[in-house]
Amino acid sequence: MRPVVAIDGPAGSGKSTLARSLGEVLGLDVLDTGAMYRAATLRVIAVMGEDLPTPVGESRDDSWKLHVAEVVRECVIDVDSRVRLDGLDVTEDIRTDRVDQVVSIVASIPVLREDLVSRQRQWIYAHGGGVVEGRDIGTVVYPDADLKVYLTASIESRAERRAIEKAIGEKAEIESMIDRRDKLDMSRATGALPSIEMTALAASGKENNIMVIDSTEHNADDVLNMVLSRLEHIGIYRFSKTEVPEHGVEKHPHEEVPG
Ligand code: CDP
Ligand code: CDP
Repeated sequence: MRPVVAIDGPAGSGKSTLARSLGEVLGLDVLDTGAMYRAATLRVIAVMGEDLPTPVGESRDDSWKLHVAEVVRECVIDVDSRVRLDGLDVTEDIRTDRVDQVVSIVASIPVLREDLVSRQRQWIYAHGGGVVEGRDIGTVVYPDADLKVYLTASIESRAERRAIEKAIGEKAEIESMIDRRDKLDMSRATGALPSIEMTALAASGKENNIMVIDSTEHNADDVLNMVLSRLEHIGIYRFSKTEVPEHGVEKHPHEEVPG
């Protein structure tokens, strides 16, 4: 088994960016678990349409959750450089505002989470390790990860990053959507995104394998280098001394430390 690096954090904190560069530098496969929840959500929207309850109406009748979880259980979800749902390429479809609005509600269904968490663990075993990003990777999916990175950034900068990415100027609207999703992701009964305080507490003991990084003032290369230094510090990888600070596959010749 090769190393497992878990990356958790809220929307726009830089998880995918870090996961991709780490995967490249370390030669590890990368799994975006958010894309799995998004693909599942696409199917749920197709089946439930406008009948999908909001979190406020949740207590009325919970039978829809079992129905939805059953529908998702039947889906084949492949997440690679493209995302496929039952063989259909849905890479772009999973990034719409509608999916953004609904995904945290779908992801709050415990039985559906069990299904996806089990698929994520299977992916890790089948790939013999990897870089896995999401909300509950270090806490639920793979608590034995060699390194658990908790990424965060101020909500203003996360919204700004997303606004730049989407090339639209509605930063205030994006900020309120992200804020709503943060709250839902942090308050659900299972697989909740841990608070930064909880993670910092866990990291403050002797646990060298937990890192909390606030990327508000750091660009993606800074964050990558912090993580590479920690991997070296805890003895997972050995990098050639002269080459660590620069970003880029060729510039990071490394040896995986056996064990
Ligand atoms: O890229 P972004 O951070 O905006 O979101 P994402 O990683 O694509 O995740 C979309 C949604 O899926 C999140 O808001 C969570 O509700 C859910 N999710 C989850 O519950 N558990 C995970 N391990 C990953 C995502
Ligand atoms: O996966 P997640 O939603 O956590 O964030 P991302 O998709 O990796 O990053 C969101 C945007 O922020 C991207 O356009 C990145 O280029 C940018 N970013 C940044 O400006 N500074 C960082 N330290 C990390 C990401």
